[in-house]
Amino acid sequence: MGREIARVVFDEQTIARRVAELGSEIAGYYDGEELLVIGLLKGSFIFVADLVRKISRPHRVDFLVAVSYGTGKVSSGAVRLLYDPETQLAGRHILVVDDIVDSGNTLNHVCRSIRKRHPKSLAACTLLHKRRAPHLEVEPRFVGFDAPHAFLVGYGLDHAEDFRHLPHIGTIEE
Ligand code: IMP
Ligand code: MG
Repeated sequence: MGREIARVVFDEQTIARRVAELGSEIAGYYDGEELLVIGLLKGSFIFVADLVRKISRPHRVDFLVAVSYGTGKVSSGAVRLLYDPETQLAGRHILVVDDIVDSGNTLNHVCRSIRKRHPKSLAACTLLHKRRAPHLEVEPRFVGFDAPHAFLVGYGLDHAEDFRHLPHIGTIEE
């Protein structure tokens, strides 16, 4: 069916190690502050679940749905926010968590929308960064890995909704 990955880029252990490091970096950075982690669905669902368990200090978790890709592999440029958390954002320290930053459209759109709600601070965390976004409103302060300029799947990342369940991250074509 051609539904197999071609090459593993980040294996399970490598991801787990880095996620644990990110968790302690985040815990240290927000020491003593009230923190709200906002994961961007669906891609970040596994990353957020693993990450928050490594942020060893009290914090809250919420989600927001941002869709920028259809079934293709190239960003459509359009970002739709399908759900806005009812949660109070004003006066809170917000950490937006995404799976991967490619064109930066999604993160920019989400950050602009969150800024309008007057958070106390706004920072971003992404597991993967392709480092090719021309302009980012908020340059992610916490980055898991610099990613190759290939289409990646697994650990929450999909291609047309397939592959999200994989414990590792890989490419589907060379
Ligand atoms: P951007 O808006 O172009 O930065 O893309 C961000 C969103 O597109 C991410 O949150 C992912 O959901 C998706 N995306 C970008 N690159 C990839 C990829 O290589 N594989 C799977 N999804 C991707
Ligand atoms: Mg996606």
